[in-house]
Amino acid sequence: MRYYRRPWHEDRSDSYSHWGTSVYYLAIDADGFAHRQVVVYATGVVTAYDEDHQEDLYGGLTYYQLAQRDLEEFAPFEISPQEYFAALADLAPMNRPDWSGRKAVVARTYDEIAAHYDRLGSPFYGQVGERLVGLLGLRRGERVLDAGCGRGACLFPAAAAVGPEGQVHGIDLSPGMVAETAAEAARRGLSQVAVLKGDVEWPAFEENSFDAVVSGFVLRMLPEPEHAVRAFHRMLRPGGRLGVSVFVSGFAERWAVVGEALEPFLTGAAPVLSAHAGKEAALLQDAGFDAVAVADEPFDVVMPDLGTWWDYLWLSGYRGTMNRIAARDRDKARRVVTETAERLCEPDGSVRMRVRVRLMTGVKGEAAGGGGSCRPR
Ligand SMILES: C[S@@+](CC[C@H](N)C(=O)[O-])C[C@H]1O[C@@H](n2cnc3c(N)ncnc32)[C@H](O)[C@@H]1O
Repeated sequence: MRYYRRPWHEDRSDSYSHWGTSVYYLAIDADGFAHRQVVVYATGVVTAYDEDHQEDLYGGLTYYQLAQRDLEEFAPFEISPQEYFAALADLAPMNRPDWSGRKAVVARTYDEIAAHYDRLGSPFYGQVGERLVGLLGLRRGERVLDAGCGRGACLFPAAAAVGPEGQVHGIDLSPGMVAETAAEAARRGLSQVAVLKGDVEWPAFEENSFDAVVSGFVLRMLPEPEHAVRAFHRMLRPGGRLGVSVFVSGFAERWAVVGEALEPFLTGAAPVLSAHAGKEAALLQDAGFDAVAVADEPFDVVMPDLGTWWDYLWLSGYRGTMNRIAARDRDKARRVVTETAERLCEPDGSVRMRVRVRLMTGVKGEAAGGGGSCRPR
């Protein structure tokens, strides 16, 4: 696949629109078929194919094979995949629902905690990531996507499994997470790893790009997880494997009382969970995955003491909830909640909070096509 960024040009057949001049982003395969076309107009309007290559609202973006002369015209405007993915990640096409407000909150929340995420106590996300990646049975030389990679809980185990001859791409909405994880990959000398800003509901990787896709604790926070799961299917080669994790519930088992103690301090609306929460296995099946397997497994959040545990709540996936405590109530909330948690501590004062995690895997059938028609119908 080749990627292009071509500005509007009046000498060509580019049609003028009342949105003004435009810039085309195009992904074109070796046979000259345009797989994705996104047009950004001077007025800020953005139109695009959606994930399933349907026309946009204006009917102007039907799937097509470019003529040789068009391909030649595009040639000087080729950009790197990284530039293409980065540009698309920042765009909100008008023919798709605009979730940019909700996604900006997610990106900001994870930016706030990127430097410390999973760095307190034992690495909870790291443990789950190891386990999830283990279920995929990765082999050396394979290509893997970590969708919503955060600080690399899945990405680093995947990089170890595929080795320097493999490839691991991580994408995340939060620039802070991307910067931290890219820096860590560089520190570890992992030349097989690339970390990019990207939206897992709008990933700009071509079909059959990966042998495995892994996504830890991301699906529940997506407005349209069905888009993401269909994209995972499309990006996998036939026979490729998917692994995803979600929390079964917030504060699981005996720690539920802590959630109850926190509740009166929470203001504003709860972070919106995907409408598919709890039904992710059906999402995998609907997207065409075979051999979908689901297992709920316990994992422990282990912290040396209650103070560290309270800080952990602020620096983990609970951040969105903790941000709902009004600034004036924070000391009181800490007192009340840690008092409740005290009786749950281990005899030495440390914390072992058991959390149930749902691990799901699926396989793209050997006979499956790319998912979504990529040839004219
Ligand atoms: C709970 S963290 C999990 C991170 C990592 N996968 C792990 O297992 O530790 C969720 C991550 O998903 C990212 N995220 C949320 N929505 C996203 C989206 N639409 N596209 C890409 N990343 C997203 C967040 O920025 C955050 O880094």
